[in-house]
Amino acid sequence: MLRIGLLTSGGDCQALNATMRGVVKGLSNSVDDLEVYGFDDGYKGLIYGKYRMLTSRDFSGILTQGGTILGTSRQPFKLMREPDEKGLDKVAAMKQTYYKLCLDCLVILGGNGTQKTANLLREEGLNIIHLPKTIDNDIFGTDMTFGFQSAVNIATDAIDCIHTTASSHGRVFIVEVMGHKVGSLTLHAGIAGGADIILIPEIPYDIKKVVDAIKKRSKAGKRFTILAVAEGAISREDAKLSKKEYKAKLANRAKKYPSVSYEIAAQIEEKSGMEVRVTVPGHTQRGGSPCAYDRVLSTRIGAGAAESILKQEYGCMIGIIDGKIKRVPLEECAGKLKMVSPKDQTVKAAKQIGISFGD
Ligand code: F6P
Repeated sequence: MLRIGLLTSGGDCQALNATMRGVVKGLSNSVDDLEVYGFDDGYKGLIYGKYRMLTSRDFSGILTQGGTILGTSRQPFKLMREPDEKGLDKVAAMKQTYYKLCLDCLVILGGNGTQKTANLLREEGLNIIHLPKTIDNDIFGTDMTFGFQSAVNIATDAIDCIHTTASSHGRVFIVEVMGHKVGSLTLHAGIAGGADIILIPEIPYDIKKVVDAIKKRSKAGKRFTILAVAEGAISREDAKLSKKEYKAKLANRAKKYPSVSYEIAAQIEEKSGMEVRVTVPGHTQRGGSPCAYDRVLSTRIGAGAAESILKQEYGCMIGIIDGKIKRVPLEECAGKLKMVSPKDQTVKAAKQIGISFGD
């Protein structure tokens, strides 16, 4: 008898179901007596003992289905050691649920914050496997996270659509791309969508340089300019602020603009006199069905998790490095963020073909 638990935590993405399907199909092909417990809404289900037993039928037909059949929620890592409003010790409660169900392993799908809690549970003695999910591709220890390529496709489509209207009207357009503190998604969608300017958190921009790049295009007879701007893009001046000062600046900005793109748009209008529009595809980037690349990656990661469970190798993330599925010890990757290096070959190539990063 093998008993595993599954949970999806944090922001969703397109390939969560495809990955869980990979885990369960990978196990049920080798184990006759398999019990799978799915926890509702991420760690919440584990804390409050909300779960259901799943059968192979639950994992049939979900390869192409976005979202998560288990539901998800954000349970901040920094609050895990704090009791809930009724005084419940969350860590003790999670352990209790795990032991009550006599689980052999808990498979946790999620991003950076989720991974930190997964590592905490490993330190507490539970058998944990973490699977790297996020459209941001910011998890240290894996070249790729599932969800990323699907989101790149959606953000690219958004930029493609903006191209036609931008060229008709001769306007400057900003497409704001998700990614939290990391610019991977913007970098890739920006290049794929043919953006003229790409602004990412890892390369603080100088608004003067951004405006110069737009003016240069106009002088060359280009009727429009498209900027792919990461939601976490930061100016050179703001990058010099302390964490506290920057937080205050963001709170101030929020009173005037919904996000960084609107602030940049106002600055461009003021400095160039050109008409600027902002488009925010937002959560559409996490929606819909997984692209073919993600279906394959998820299947490989899911199968990798199944293999790890069968070998009783726990305490790791199943990542992909140089095209190979690898077990990465959680203590080596938890709490680390994978950012875009300004020296990255992709950044270099973009600059080589004339894309401005405003630096
Ligand atoms: O981490 C995935 C992500 O989509 C980020 O790109 C984005 O900053 C964040 O989640 C949005 O979170 P929420 O869905 O909680 O608004």
